[in-house]
Amino acid sequence: MSLEHDEDVAAQLSPQAFDAQFRAQHRSPLLTELWARAWGEQYPAEVRPNSGCPWRLLGLMVADLRPAPGATIADLGCGLGGPGLWLARATGTRLIGVDWSAAAVEIAAERARHWLPDERVEFRTGSFTDTGLADGVADAVISVDALALAMDPQAALAEVRRVLRPGGTLLFTGAEPRTPDAAATVWEEPLRAAGFRLDSRTELPGEGAAWGRLYGSIRQHQGRLREQMGDRATRTLLAEADMIEPHIEQLSWGVVRARATE
Ligand SMILES: C[S@@+](CC[C@H](N)C(=O)[O-])C[C@H]1O[C@@H](n2cnc3c(N)ncnc32)[C@H](O)[C@@H]1O
Repeated sequence: MSLEHDEDVAAQLSPQAFDAQFRAQHRSPLLTELWARAWGEQYPAEVRPNSGCPWRLLGLMVADLRPAPGATIADLGCGLGGPGLWLARATGTRLIGVDWSAAAVEIAAERARHWLPDERVEFRTGSFTDTGLADGVADAVISVDALALAMDPQAALAEVRRVLRPGGTLLFTGAEPRTPDAAATVWEEPLRAAGFRLDSRTELPGEGAAWGRLYGSIRQHQGRLREQMGDRATRTLLAEADMIEPHIEQLSWGVVRARATE
């Protein structure tokens, strides 16, 4: 949302917290159903994202990246892997998914068996600032509702630049303040400092409303969610709702595209 996080938010963001949340959420068919209802016809059911990943974003990623068959796409903060798996399968590319949650990586690797041949996919644990990937290995880097969570965005962008080949593209989504030049205000300078040129920011219309519907239905169905996910994971979702809901009107969700300078 912004380049700085306050300390409360920082405390909630840890690999262990995400591990517990992913394991619990994976047990809840109701949560998946609420996600599907909130996004309606824009919900890509097979992808089952843990993010705002409407069909229009998947289409935009294909149109913007146009990767050559056999190219390598790295998905940072891949979670359970859905968006990257869909993109790699659709474009005939190779996928490397990285997430600091070992539980997410384990589930993503299991899902991958149903999407791509082994030689075209790898999931591994790593952080935004230490992915463990080789220099210049990726032709493109994507990150769906993840990179914008980095505690040290400048260090994260430097790591993305290191793993991208010169001229490669970074596409990431997130929410910025609803101003006409949101991407320029928030991202242009950090991207430039890390060796990128900001190409564009495309708003994803309807995302705020979809998040609002999701948080509303989580409140409404918290009893059944508790039965499926347990108390702690349900409270975490409710806390996220409390944190984001009051700001939905002031936020704009969009996808930022940047090019690694040669
Ligand atoms: C909102 S989820 C999005 C997951 C996935 N991109 C999707 O669209 O389904 C954010 C993801 O970022 C990961 N994450 C958060 N901070 C991270 C960090 N510092 N390094 C690596 N992954 C991180 C979390 O574990 C989580 O999987």
